[in-house]
Amino acid sequence: MAKLIPDVKALEALRKKSLDERKGYKQVIAVCGGTGCHAYGCMKVIEAFRAELAKQGLAKDVRLRTTGCHGFCEMGSLCIIHPSDIFYVKITPEDVAEVVSETVKAGKVIDRLCYTDPASKKKVVKAAEVPFYKNQHRLLFAQNGMVDPKDLDDYLAIGGFSGAAAALCDLKPRDIIDKIKASGLRGRGGGGFPTGRKWEICASHESDVRYIVCNADEGDPGAYMDRSILEGNPFAVIEGMIVGAKAIGAAHGYVYVRNEYPLAVENLGAAIVKAREAGLLGEDILKTGFSFDITINRGGGAFVCGEETGLISSVMGLTGEPNPKPPYPAQRGLWGKPTVINNVETWANVPMILSKGEKWFAGMGTANSKGTKVFSLVGKINNTGLVEVPMGITLRKIVYDIGGGIPGGRKFKAVQTGGPSGGCLPESMLDSPVDFDELTKMGSMMGSGGMIVMDDRTCMVDVAHYFMKFLSEESCGKCVPCREGVPRMKAILEDITNGKGSDEAIALLQELGETVRDASLCALGGTSPNPVLSTLKYFRDEYEAHIRDKRCPAGVCKALINYSVIEDRCTGCGACARVCPTQAAVATGRPATVKGKKHDKLKAHEIVQEKCIKCGACIEACKFDAIKVE
Ligand code: SF4
Ligand code: SF4
Ligand code: SF4
Ligand code: FES
Repeated sequence: MAKLIPDVKALEALRKKSLDERKGYKQVIAVCGGTGCHAYGCMKVIEAFRAELAKQGLAKDVRLRTTGCHGFCEMGSLCIIHPSDIFYVKITPEDVAEVVSETVKAGKVIDRLCYTDPASKKKVVKAAEVPFYKNQHRLLFAQNGMVDPKDLDDYLAIGGFSGAAAALCDLKPRDIIDKIKASGLRGRGGGGFPTGRKWEICASHESDVRYIVCNADEGDPGAYMDRSILEGNPFAVIEGMIVGAKAIGAAHGYVYVRNEYPLAVENLGAAIVKAREAGLLGEDILKTGFSFDITINRGGGAFVCGEETGLISSVMGLTGEPNPKPPYPAQRGLWGKPTVINNVETWANVPMILSKGEKWFAGMGTANSKGTKVFSLVGKINNTGLVEVPMGITLRKIVYDIGGGIPGGRKFKAVQTGGPSGGCLPESMLDSPVDFDELTKMGSMMGSGGMIVMDDRTCMVDVAHYFMKFLSEESCGKCVPCREGVPRMKAILEDITNGKGSDEAIALLQELGETVRDASLCALGGTSPNPVLSTLKYFRDEYEAHIRDKRCPAGVCKALINYSVIEDRCTGCGACARVCPTQAAVATGRPATVKGKKHDKLKAHEIVQEKCIKCGACIEACKFDAIKVE
């Protein structure tokens, strides 16, 4: 049970004690305990470290710290050893004894556990030298690696709750709002609305009660930034909400989090309990006369509940459907009271702004987009994971310097930013700066930070169809443009990918997209045409090839492609026949070609078109590039 912290003096004394205790350790082994690493069995690795440190008599000198996500989840289980900064990836419980005796005790690097840079093929020993990390500007995510999410003392040791203490003791609500306004912080959840302005609107609305909400309903496929912050550093979100509550005069806050995020719910729940025990939540916080508490609300997984008015309905126990705006939630939100809603990443930025200063924050980024942004970088890219970069960085830097480029040396085709209703941007946009306004100008959006990279084997019509399918399933059906328009766009795209697109299809998609964009009730419908309109703008030739030539240039749309064997490249290895689920890949009676010569005993293969279901397994299996798609 956390000890009660009666006032600010005691808070500072506890911070000093926590720091001194941590200085007592000679080394720290920070092992990721995030959801991604759980899938790789990190808990067994952590247990093995605990047992091994005890066995080798190091438990007092070496701290084992279970942390949240380090962002490079595909390398799990992973750990960083401080202060040497040695970074080990894909570690298993079997590696642990050697790590303790060789690296922790003897200071030697175990080569096989170091990260190999796919570009240079060289081993990288230190975390700070790994290109994926080196080219980022990690503020929020740096903290993730420095704290155990359930350890309040860890958070205090990195300066935690100093922002809240300043807000509660030294600043008037107006001062806090002015600081947030001056920092230039904009909402990281999608809309990019200026945070300080939102707080100001809420605070200026006459009411006896106001509420604070943290939107943790992260629904974009492939995105998990907010989950990782909540899992890894829940005290930062709590602290941000305390600051916001003081600024607008709220006594209660809600965190609306997806039920599919059990670890985030667990860690946040544990942090709230600890904060309450310590007197950092509840009545008369730090004897300042200010009271505030937080309730966790679990969402059922509807994408539309990420929209703020839908979220409000859901918290109130109503069907999670959006409502018309105005009035905005800052004017009339939860139970009709003024309510500030910001997402996890936005709240987590607030304590840093209070403690490091609004000028420091405003010093990063572009004219109208300040600070850093966390992106979930996925798709056809060498390094996938969570990346934190300053606003204004170019897409090229993210894709190539941090992401390590496209696997297999293939060609970059597009990047979709902003989640399922973001636009797809072509290669010509790679040097554009990433900020709220530039992305919107290009026909995409920041959204909450999804970023999907696509290579030359991606069909852009198929991509637009995929996202329209997702959005039509997630449309709540309350308003006609979205309920009818999105499924119609999906159906037209389906026809095109099936080779049945009419000559009018492109014009119809354009008109329908613009109508749905302009006439929908909420942002889900309003932004849903982005994948269609952006691909029509930048990849129109692909639409035309599908409609006029009945051809899918990327070789993806099954109705428009055929697989066949290039016979003089076929070595007769039989790999295609072994993986083919329908026995469509078969040996012919003709000789195969091995190193340029005909080989009588090995037989060239062919594909029986009537049996082929176009699954693509053979092309993946063929090591000789002997199968083509046309
Ligand atoms: S735009 Fe779509 S999701 Fe939003 S209210 Fe209308 S039907 Fe529902
Ligand atoms: S996998 Fe390729 S090389 Fe081997 S038999 Fe099939 S087509 Fe020929
Ligand atoms: S595409 Fe699939 S079904 Fe067709 S031949 Fe290849 S493995 Fe068989
Ligand atoms: S969950 Fe371990 S690095 Fe992301």
